[in-house]
Amino acid sequence: MTVTLSVIKADIGGYVGHSSMHPALVEKAQEMLEKAKGRKLLIDYRVMACGDDLQLIMTHSRGEENSEVHKLAFDIFMAGTEEAKRLKLYGAGQDLLSEAFSGNVKGMGPGVAEMEIQERPSEPIIIFMADKTSAGAWNLPLYKMFADPFNTAGLVIAESLHRGFAFEIHDVRTHRKITLNAPDEIYDMLMFLGAPSRHAVKKVFSRASGEIAAVSSTERLTEVAGRYVGKDDPVMIVRCQGNFPAVGEVLEPFAHPFIVEGWMRGSHHGPLMTTSFKDANPSRFDGPPRVIAAGFQLANGTLVGPRDMFDDPAFDQARDEANTLASMLRRHGPFEPHRLPLDEMEYTTMAGIMKKLGTRWEPL
Ligand code: 13P
Ligand code: 13P
Ligand code: MG
Ligand code: MG
Repeated sequence: MTVTLSVIKADIGGYVGHSSMHPALVEKAQEMLEKAKGRKLLIDYRVMACGDDLQLIMTHSRGEENSEVHKLAFDIFMAGTEEAKRLKLYGAGQDLLSEAFSGNVKGMGPGVAEMEIQERPSEPIIIFMADKTSAGAWNLPLYKMFADPFNTAGLVIAESLHRGFAFEIHDVRTHRKITLNAPDEIYDMLMFLGAPSRHAVKKVFSRASGEIAAVSSTERLTEVAGRYVGKDDPVMIVRCQGNFPAVGEVLEPFAHPFIVEGWMRGSHHGPLMTTSFKDANPSRFDGPPRVIAAGFQLANGTLVGPRDMFDDPAFDQARDEANTLASMLRRHGPFEPHRLPLDEMEYTTMAGIMKKLGTRWEPL
């Protein structure tokens, strides 16, 4: 059976500040998705939240970039924005750049990750959702899952993984893409993946079967809007087992925190903290950035789950390390490398300060 998985997300208002999601917005989304399921637009759905981002997880048989499915998501975000305005939630409609839908939510603010697949006899998938960071945050874990044998034993010992994976990498600044193969081209690949503020992995494919293995959202709001309107807290879908890494290999990159950009005002480096669903409410200095993992088995397009994959004491050490790193970075206050370099900050008073002080800067 051919199934399309669509995860479309947006921040349409935070509760309180940018820390979390108000239940009224989740309810509104559930109500509208239930109706869409009733009229057979969707096979199934789940509404989730990571921090202040509303996550619509949908299955259907209409393929990627389907205008009806995208319009449904857009309508839900518009209705949720009304609810958010009524409650005066923070940044109501933050991620919506336009009020008029034009066939596809891409470029309109929401983040999108979609894959059309032939559902296997057993189809375990994990949907990762992060808050207070951006799409490049997936580069390191995707590299580990699909290219690093120290993480994924299957690359060495499983026939189905041994040929490696192909990575489609997007340059979010010049709007170009390239596909590079692991393991043969990993040194070339890491040149780009190691610069996650500019490059993000959009898709990963099995080289043995050509099947899609992973897809992420790479919309970058700052580039889309040309000015700061909120970050692009990312999502990704990863298939597991069989021709893909095992569930445990897909989760393993998150056993240690790594540093991402985002956090307070989208302008700081901080550790990505692996948490259970209930702990994904970034509050300390609006962070540190969070990632949750929702595990599902697909059954003819029906979503069996979610299982809260990071709700496991085996990730406690990752959380402890993240707290240690967070405290260490916080002590830097407004200094780099905690604060992002000037040209990468989501918003900055630099232009105004230069205007004010321009004439007082003298040649050396
Ligand atoms: P089971 O024997 O529990 O199915 O596990 C197999 C496996 O490959 C785990 O990574
Ligand atoms: P969000 O992108 O999650 O809304 O966070 C914005 C921010 O400025 C946090 O300090
Ligand atoms: Mg917000
Ligand atoms: Mg957010």
